[in-house]
Amino acid sequence: MTNRITVNADRAKGTINRNIYGHFSEHLGRCIYEGLWVGEDSEIPNTKGIRNDVAAALKKMKIPVLRWPGGCFADEYHWKDGIGPKENRKRMINTHWGGVVENNHFGTHEFMMLCEMLECEPYINGNVGSGTVQEMADWVEYLTFEGVSPMAELREANGRPEPWKVKYFGVGNENWGCGGNMRPEYYADLYRQFQTYVRNYGSNRVHKIACGPNTDDYHWMETLMKQAHRFMDSITLHYYTVPGDSWQEKGAATGFPEEMWRVTLKKALFMEELISKHSAIMDQYDPDKRIGLLVDEWGTWHDVEPGTNPGFLYQQNTIRDALVAGISLNIFNEHCDRVQMANIAQLVNVLQAVILTEGEKMVLTPTYHVFDMYKVHQDAQLLDVHQSITELGEGKQAIPQISVSASKDEEGRVHISLCNLDHQTSAKVEVELRGLVGKFVSVKGTTLTSDTIDGHNTFEETDQVSPTEFTAFNLIDQVIHAELPPMSVTVLALTAE
Ligand code: AHR
Repeated sequence: MTNRITVNADRAKGTINRNIYGHFSEHLGRCIYEGLWVGEDSEIPNTKGIRNDVAAALKKMKIPVLRWPGGCFADEYHWKDGIGPKENRKRMINTHWGGVVENNHFGTHEFMMLCEMLECEPYINGNVGSGTVQEMADWVEYLTFEGVSPMAELREANGRPEPWKVKYFGVGNENWGCGGNMRPEYYADLYRQFQTYVRNYGSNRVHKIACGPNTDDYHWMETLMKQAHRFMDSITLHYYTVPGDSWQEKGAATGFPEEMWRVTLKKALFMEELISKHSAIMDQYDPDKRIGLLVDEWGTWHDVEPGTNPGFLYQQNTIRDALVAGISLNIFNEHCDRVQMANIAQLVNVLQAVILTEGEKMVLTPTYHVFDMYKVHQDAQLLDVHQSITELGEGKQAIPQISVSASKDEEGRVHISLCNLDHQTSAKVEVELRGLVGKFVSVKGTTLTSDTIDGHNTFEETDQVSPTEFTAFNLIDQVIHAELPPMSVTVLALTAE
């Protein structure tokens, strides 16, 4: 059956916040150390300690915002351990992630420098679980105070006289779990207390972020909204796509059985229900949608690669992960009235990474290519889409064959991202574009696909799964008739005269 999609180019539904295409970097495994930071003395080409190859790839992808230092690590991180001369910095044990020694060589100054290099917004996550109000208040003062103050003087002594701008600040992470195992009532009160001392200094305005629920913990959302909505600018949501039946048996990233294809995508599609239900709760307390829902941890979580440290969460990344990314980003776009940011976990070498490194080698994963192809949606206007889509499978296990989202950018170009969730069969699609002034003068397409359900890139074969020009379409009377390859992510760019 042909799938039918109508895009109403004259009906904009809101702005797709560029931060939906955001990322997350934690002191976990080889994300920060090796993945981003190699140190100035490294033989790997770097600028002030940051890998040049990784930085260039992230800039090309237009990374808009980067969350740091965790994750679970954030609630045991004491920022003062990571400033000053590196040789004097305190060493600690990273108890959450592999029990390795953390030398604190990558700290506040290095993170802020990285964000400046990447031209992205920093999103700093403060410590509630094992920190103090004073410690969090001091960090904000250190980062943003201009003038004479104890923290501003300390910053200057460490080589940075002028303050940084820091908009996004998280007050704790997963405080229902690794961040203190708190009840929502207790955390809501702590949140109210801690955020009081997260001050706006000078012209800096902090966007205060409360720790939100795990997956479908609607009670947590209800409690936080009820008790603290007046004190927050955003609240987070964490949801991971774990293909297997349990955290003990998550399933392999590659070489997985064919039936896991659909199971995985079904679980990724659950994001739609989660956002709708959490948004409905938020609507009761915030009908004007002032408060953002930040999905600041999402992505696939597979078993670690055999032979690697189980605490390092290193996994390969295949065309299946690319589909999870394409589907999730389409869902976030569609909910841009509430979803102001999303941060895939994690940036390099951890979980659903966009980049993997090994020594001086670097490889871009299929997920990287999805972010690169979808960057056209950043800050564009979400367009109204109507669809009639074939279902794959039956009953509760059914999934749609196609996932779609469309936007119009400042120059009037329309971009349509289309995922074919069917790993066996190509998908016929008719896309009608209504409401355009003038006619198309050009339609261009890019697609990402693979011959196998676990197609991926390796350090030896870096381009096994990489975007190619998409030509399997005709334009007849303003309707695009396309045939999307099996298991593919495609972006069409339409320009009108
Ligand atoms: O991303 C890995 C971990 O997953 C994070 O540290 C934590 O917040 C979540 O449980």
